[in-house]
Amino acid sequence: MDAHEGFIFENYSEAGGRKYFTNDNALMIDAGIELIYGMYARKELTDNQFYYCLCSVLEAADRVSNTTGFYSAYLKEFNKVSLKPIEFKGFDLKDSVASNDVYLGDANDLLQEVSGDILYLDPPYTNMQYSNVYHVLNTIAQNEKPVIAGITGRPEGRNVSPWSHKKKVEAEFRTLVESAKFEFLIMSYSNESIMSSELIADVMSSYGKYESREIPHKRFNLGTNVSDNKQVVEYLHVLHKAG
Ligand SMILES: C[S@@+](CC[C@H](N)C(=O)[O-])C[C@H]1O[C@@H](n2cnc3c(N)ncnc32)[C@H](O)[C@@H]1O
Repeated sequence: MDAHEGFIFENYSEAGGRKYFTNDNALMIDAGIELIYGMYARKELTDNQFYYCLCSVLEAADRVSNTTGFYSAYLKEFNKVSLKPIEFKGFDLKDSVASNDVYLGDANDLLQEVSGDILYLDPPYTNMQYSNVYHVLNTIAQNEKPVIAGITGRPEGRNVSPWSHKKKVEAEFRTLVESAKFEFLIMSYSNESIMSSELIADVMSSYGKYESREIPHKRFNLGTNVSDNKQVVEYLHVLHKAG
């Protein structure tokens, strides 16, 4: 695969003024995107082959990113892993244990059309916006050329989730609990989250039989994945929705 000067090289490499990737790695990420999207457009890849190859590019890029794992900023100096030449690898696919449907969209919108027995939720629980933290990977995955701004090059007008917004989360959560057409709702949340356990218990209890489980867990420093030796309480909030 030949190196290609594309959006990642022009904006997220040292030459582009933002040290998310070395120049050589950024050129190869662009080459990967160009190749896969080009082949898919020419119908030389099936959907499954396209997603498999795209995943390989994303994982390869992530392994050599000069970040803490979050793309809200890049490190001042290239770290050890980012200086390694990028490697596109294959990976094993597992047979699914059941037939699945995958949706991409806002949870409350999807709940208008999806129903079932158990709804498991793992929503954001801090004010960290995922669209900021993973913006470079989103741009690679969707082969986008967004208008970007600032030192970190965040795209303008990204989706902002109400689940990461202190003032909006409660209304969003109430709507979800009320509208979900599921017998059981199970939600993971921690005690260091923007909604209190009392509030969650209060909302869920108004729609049926509520109970919770607490699991003490080591706290991990965001971005470094290293424990700071403090404990958090992880909750499983369970609602058996009445009729
Ligand atoms: C705590 S993470 C869940 C991680 C997931 N359990 C996993 O293992 O990959 C929260 C996820 O919710 C997504 N999210 C944020 N707001 C959302 C919304 N309104 N509707 C659906 N998903 C949302 C975020 O993009 C993020 O991927």
